[in-house]
Amino acid sequence: MTTSFPPGFLWGSATAAAQIEGAAFEDGKEASVWDTFSRVPGAVLNGDTPDVAVDHYHRMPEDVALMKRLGLQSYRFSTSWARIRPGDRDVNPAGLDFYSRLVDELLEAGVLPWLTLYHWDLPQAVEDTGGWANRDTAYRFAEYAEIVHGALGDRVANWTTFNEPFCSSLLGYASGVHAPGRQEPAAAIAAVHHQHLGHGLAVQRLRELGAQHIGITLNLTNAIPKDAGDPVDLEAARRVDGLNNRIFLDPLLRGSYPDDIRTDLADLGLTFGDDALVRPGDLEIIAQPLDFLGVNHYHDDMVSGHPLEVPADPSLVPADPHAVAGGIRSVGSPFVGSEYVTFPLRGLPLTGMGWEVNPSGLTRLLVRLGEEYPALPPLYVTENGAAYDDEVAADGAIHDELRTTYIVDHIQAVSDAIAAGADVRGYFVWSLLDNFEWGWGYGKRFGIVRVDYDTLERTPKDSALAYAAQIAAATDARAVDPASAAVLG
Ligand code: FCB
Repeated sequence: MTTSFPPGFLWGSATAAAQIEGAAFEDGKEASVWDTFSRVPGAVLNGDTPDVAVDHYHRMPEDVALMKRLGLQSYRFSTSWARIRPGDRDVNPAGLDFYSRLVDELLEAGVLPWLTLYHWDLPQAVEDTGGWANRDTAYRFAEYAEIVHGALGDRVANWTTFNEPFCSSLLGYASGVHAPGRQEPAAAIAAVHHQHLGHGLAVQRLRELGAQHIGITLNLTNAIPKDAGDPVDLEAARRVDGLNNRIFLDPLLRGSYPDDIRTDLADLGLTFGDDALVRPGDLEIIAQPLDFLGVNHYHDDMVSGHPLEVPADPSLVPADPHAVAGGIRSVGSPFVGSEYVTFPLRGLPLTGMGWEVNPSGLTRLLVRLGEEYPALPPLYVTENGAAYDDEVAADGAIHDELRTTYIVDHIQAVSDAIAAGADVRGYFVWSLLDNFEWGWGYGKRFGIVRVDYDTLERTPKDSALAYAAQIAAATDARAVDPASAAVLG
């Protein structure tokens, strides 16, 4: 099989503010929900916090130099609302200045900035007023977007509103596995809608301010029924497809919530009307034309409506039994109203997260999106990668064969999708650096560059070298293609 990519295809790597920056309470930054949640006993493995993370806040020039060395064409990072507008009060010039210096450093290194406004780190002060369950937060988000654009809009061309709203709504407010750790189904549904609204308002505002390349990043799945002849499995797959995919895609790309989801969630707060969750005019705001859709992909899922024959491995739950007096902090299902659904394994290889490795699932997903959504904008794979336990060899190298194979095979899967008609314009590996993996703390390593958590020293793993070679081969050492100039700004 050969890989082939269109001219201008963008090669990059991704990180997120709370996962790498550290400096959690420095230069005016105040707590985000992850700073607070990580202090809840049992919320994060080993009681790890993002306080220091990988100290990117202080090592940013070194990290950008590393990107340049690897030949990355683009860097997807997020800005921290709690750093830029601590407590959601006054703008913090020192916070904006950090991102301004980052953007300058990137441009100087020839690396295209790909900015995400929200990668899960709501200011704790906003959570204290109800967080995403509160409609007002959508308006606060649009104000924050305007502030960031005011400081960086002259140099940043690519704007993403939200990263994986599934996680920051359903995982954060229903299952409680992510910050703010609430387990309130109705609040989770409200969070879904208010993030959509915040997205639409921010897109409108960014357009008025002159931004041209605006999108959102979703994590989607292929909800494959275990037995396509079993109505129970078919129903479970419909529900997972609804709550993982269509509850996000349909409002954004079709301006409506799917009928079956409306029925399923009517009693859980998905209500419509003047005083309801979804108000007249909301869906028009939400369905703003988009310039791209970011797709994050790690695994897809087989779904059943029957209990698992082989129970899930308890070691694959990110809570530390030793940290909580009286036992494990219990977490629930994100599938509000459909909590009974199960995800049987298919006998595929598993990553260190226990996620199934199935590159053809990525091909299928990218192709299917174009088939199912006529208004689909161009796609970018904005995250893809794998955690494995790394070993440092005697010579200091990290021969991470499994991660390398995972990345190479998924790049092939993207190429296959393009050959089958999907309009995919770029690929970002997750992640540039080992980092704070949310509920797993520093226990799971996704980086193509190793970080020694004692010295904070960075060492490119074999996967980074392979990725660099892939970029060099695919781009044929050509400079950025003129066809993509509009994107590159
Ligand atoms: C995604 C997140 C990213 C990282 C990867 C492993 O869901 O967007 O921050 O945690 O998973």
